[in-house]
Amino acid sequence: MKINEILNKSGFTKDELIAMLRCTGSDRDLLLKKSSEIKKQQVGNKVYLRGLIELTNQCAKNCYYCGIRHDNDKVNRYFISDEEVLDAARFAFNNRYGSIVIQSGEIQNEWFTRKIELLILGIKHLSGGKLGITLSCGEQTEETYRRWFDAGAHRYLLRIETSNPELYAKLHPADHEWNRRIECLRLLKKCGYQTGTGVMIGLPGQTVDDLANDLLFMKEIDIDMCGMGPYIEHEYTPLFSANKDMLSLHKRFDLTLKMIAVLRILMPDINIASTTALQAIDKIGREKALKIGANILMPNITPGKYRDEYKLYQNKPCTDESPEDCGKCIEARVRLAGCEIGYEEWGDSKHYLKIKFS
Ligand code: 5AD
Ligand code: SF4
Ligand code: FES
Repeated sequence: MKINEILNKSGFTKDELIAMLRCTGSDRDLLLKKSSEIKKQQVGNKVYLRGLIELTNQCAKNCYYCGIRHDNDKVNRYFISDEEVLDAARFAFNNRYGSIVIQSGEIQNEWFTRKIELLILGIKHLSGGKLGITLSCGEQTEETYRRWFDAGAHRYLLRIETSNPELYAKLHPADHEWNRRIECLRLLKKCGYQTGTGVMIGLPGQTVDDLANDLLFMKEIDIDMCGMGPYIEHEYTPLFSANKDMLSLHKRFDLTLKMIAVLRILMPDINIASTTALQAIDKIGREKALKIGANILMPNITPGKYRDEYKLYQNKPCTDESPEDCGKCIEARVRLAGCEIGYEEWGDSKHYLKIKFS
């Protein structure tokens, strides 16, 4: 079947998704154009900002691809003070960002649960309830998720990394369970969060078939938000030298753009983030993603002195910059992508709102 015939359908088979992910040249142009149109029709031309606070690089886990994995002893571990987190949130609020994201390594204990709970309450308080709060703090118990939700967080991101359990097992130690991830996604929905997931693209051993399954997985569990990006090696990780037979960075980038485009066509009203990893490969990578289907941007508002230690992958952009630098830069970038910023707006997932209120 020709690409334009596929693009005019309303539901897609796996083979059709694969055809879209494989297309090149003018077919690729058609795909990206279609997804850009759908984005404008369904979620509009606004980009919503989520100021990103990388709270701590302490992590109990040992994912084979990640630069801040527990066993990497070349990282200086930090934990941002409460005051600095509140200052960062105040910066976001004063600069009219609608929301913030608190991201961290995975820590599961009462001290951490309580700390996040108090930070959420503090951020809600300083902004008169106006700043939206997204969390990305890994796998937790239902009780923890519930406490954070009750304190005022309303979105949660937990990437599945890959929907293929066998591939997941190759990328993680045996006690990191794929099933547990799925269970956590279910719990997050049950607690009432707008729930987001995502995958890495171009992982060693990953096929286009896997990526099509990733898209079907997101559709099936009915996510509200997605953040996905290219896999990028980090020197001090076990996966660094795992496989020489990898897609080039350029191909991983291209495949990520196509994944975003196909997801926008498959799930027209969800929020899709333009992730930082895209910019690690292409200087205007995030703008390209906004143009073709993404509608969320996460300017880094982590205090400058910590940024160098939150390197999940090499070449991570914005590590020498301050929150002010990124703030100024973001506006120009959004304009370059032909979009506008939804200042002071939460920009909740239309998908979530439709389900909730219908
Ligand atoms: N390349 C790209 N993305 C990575 N992440 C972790 N390590 C890497 C890497 N080497 C992503 C994972 C994780 C998110 C916080 O960062 O998808 O969920
Ligand atoms: Fe920890 Fe997340 Fe890195 Fe895994 S990907 S080691 S859970 S920070
Ligand atoms: Fe950080 Fe441009 S977004 S410097």
